[in-house]
Amino acid sequence: MCGIVGYVGPRPSQDILLAGLARLEYRGYDSAGVAVIDGDGALGVRKKAGKLAVLRDSLVDAPLPDGSTGIGHTRWATHGGPTDGNAHPHLADHDKLAVIHNGIIENFSALRDELLADGVVFRSETDTEVAAALLGREYAGNGGDLQRAFRSVVNRLEGAFTLLAMHQDHPGLVVGARRNSPLVIGLGEGENFLGSDVAAFIEYTRKALAIGQDQIVSITPDAVTVTDFAGTPVDPEPFDVSWDAAAAEKGGWSSFMAKEVAEQPEAVANTIRGRIQDGQVVIPELDGLDELFIGINRVIITACGTASYAALVGKYAIEQWARVAVDVELAHEFRYRDPVIGADTLVVSISQSGETMDTLMAVKYARERGARTLSICNTQGATIPRESDAVVYTHAGPEVAVASTKAFSAQITALLLLGLHMGRVRGAVADASVDVDELAALPEKIAKVLESEQEHVTQLAGWMADTRSVLFLGRHVGYPIALEGALKLKEISYIHAEGFAAGELKHGPIALIEPGQPVFVLVPSPRHSALVHSKVVSNIQEIRARGARVIVIAEEGDVAVLPFADEVIRIPLAGAMFEPLLAVVPLQIFAMALATAKGLDVDQPRNLAKSVTVE
Ligand code: G6P
Repeated sequence: MCGIVGYVGPRPSQDILLAGLARLEYRGYDSAGVAVIDGDGALGVRKKAGKLAVLRDSLVDAPLPDGSTGIGHTRWATHGGPTDGNAHPHLADHDKLAVIHNGIIENFSALRDELLADGVVFRSETDTEVAAALLGREYAGNGGDLQRAFRSVVNRLEGAFTLLAMHQDHPGLVVGARRNSPLVIGLGEGENFLGSDVAAFIEYTRKALAIGQDQIVSITPDAVTVTDFAGTPVDPEPFDVSWDAAAAEKGGWSSFMAKEVAEQPEAVANTIRGRIQDGQVVIPELDGLDELFIGINRVIITACGTASYAALVGKYAIEQWARVAVDVELAHEFRYRDPVIGADTLVVSISQSGETMDTLMAVKYARERGARTLSICNTQGATIPRESDAVVYTHAGPEVAVASTKAFSAQITALLLLGLHMGRVRGAVADASVDVDELAALPEKIAKVLESEQEHVTQLAGWMADTRSVLFLGRHVGYPIALEGALKLKEISYIHAEGFAAGELKHGPIALIEPGQPVFVLVPSPRHSALVHSKVVSNIQEIRARGARVIVIAEEGDVAVLPFADEVIRIPLAGAMFEPLLAVVPLQIFAMALATAKGLDVDQPRNLAKSVTVE
């Protein structure tokens, strides 16, 4: 939700802001704006509804006088529609003060009434302008101390926010604050940066500082100061970004999604790297933390969206290997129903961004109730890992396309690693060598699926460009993949899609089958369970008998499916827990190819944002 970038230093800031916004556009893309303090000390602002390109074109046609202090914003609308007027920055103090914001200020209505009574005239419908007006009033009232005014304002705001502000009377200074919303500092030489995440400044520096909850930061070209909301100095936590700018570029691919789908073998390999020793899974980050896993009677995995489907695969794996009961909870449902948790519960959260508000709140809730917490996250310095007792990072690299692909595969990989690690620590697995070998072989097998099925599946999607509805069926660990296949299709091709547990078919969904209805069926290997395999083959016969067009994903050599399938997509042989990482790949390619065939933007689907930092 909303990307934020700030810059102070010797260089012209507009290009730096636009480059940062381009990298953050995945966070929201319904409008964008920049504010710059020019060389004469005047504040220039430009903001436009629409994608960043609209703003960029406007700046090319009529550039703002440039200066070396600036802030920029790309928006995902919450309060007020995507219009030029509602776009950020918002101005106050006679248009000398500019503010950008990510999040929702929950008490904005009361503050707005207070300011209206004071004679303030608002030009937008946003909660952000309320914060700007409050800051303007505070600044004017305290004789022009921006930092003091800013501190006083953030203490009055409720809800979630990252707020950045600058004033034309203070060139070379940008102030920022965060509560339940992301903000990181980029450290340069004689220049400093702020960003919603490190992508905002990765082109210029890989040295970063993480800012904690309820903290305020001031950056000047030569200094960075961080305090808490009371003004007491705190030491921010330094970290180095492990990937470079090239990793966040499209690099010749038609879309970020195409690049990220193709990067899955590498993402999985990087997630495994360093975590297998002497034929066993050993996760160095969990060294000395065995007590997290011993004495628990239950694991709850909590997440949203695609991450929640990875969680479902994790349930099967952890239960099998670590012999402990696992429940999967959507994060936004979890804390609103008084769940039974306590010191003997391990709550595992999964989040690519590490900033999803629903998931963050679930983690906090779990901690407050004494549960042990572990997060699986792809983003260094993010909030969710900082709020957890332990973290297992996925090393998928930056994921830019809104629809998650390589992060999903890396999340499942991390869960498999975690399951085997827990199994060892809890003494539940005597010999995991077969599974460890399966893990290690995954990258190569994923690469094989990409190579062998890309063309076939793309062709299939092309034929189906007019399809109005697609169903996905799976059983066991194939069930979460059916859900994920349906979600991918909904997200980027806007086609109605549903995923079902294959066994549930006869309890309702089979009524949806009519002649020509396309149905993807994930067929588990008969080598794992002849019984489960035969049940799924029976399901295929049932839908085929009612006229469905059956597209089967089955392992090489499974001939039992042939008489009933219109299309067969093949995946290499793999252990039961490892099949999801192979079966999901054709479904990702299918969604991407179908959206492309419909002429849609696969990276930036309508109405969505990659990182949902509001509840
Ligand atoms: C949004 C995105 C999804 C993502 C979900 C969870 O809904 O559109 O692609 O799966 O958030 O994101 P997270 O960063 O927590 O994994």
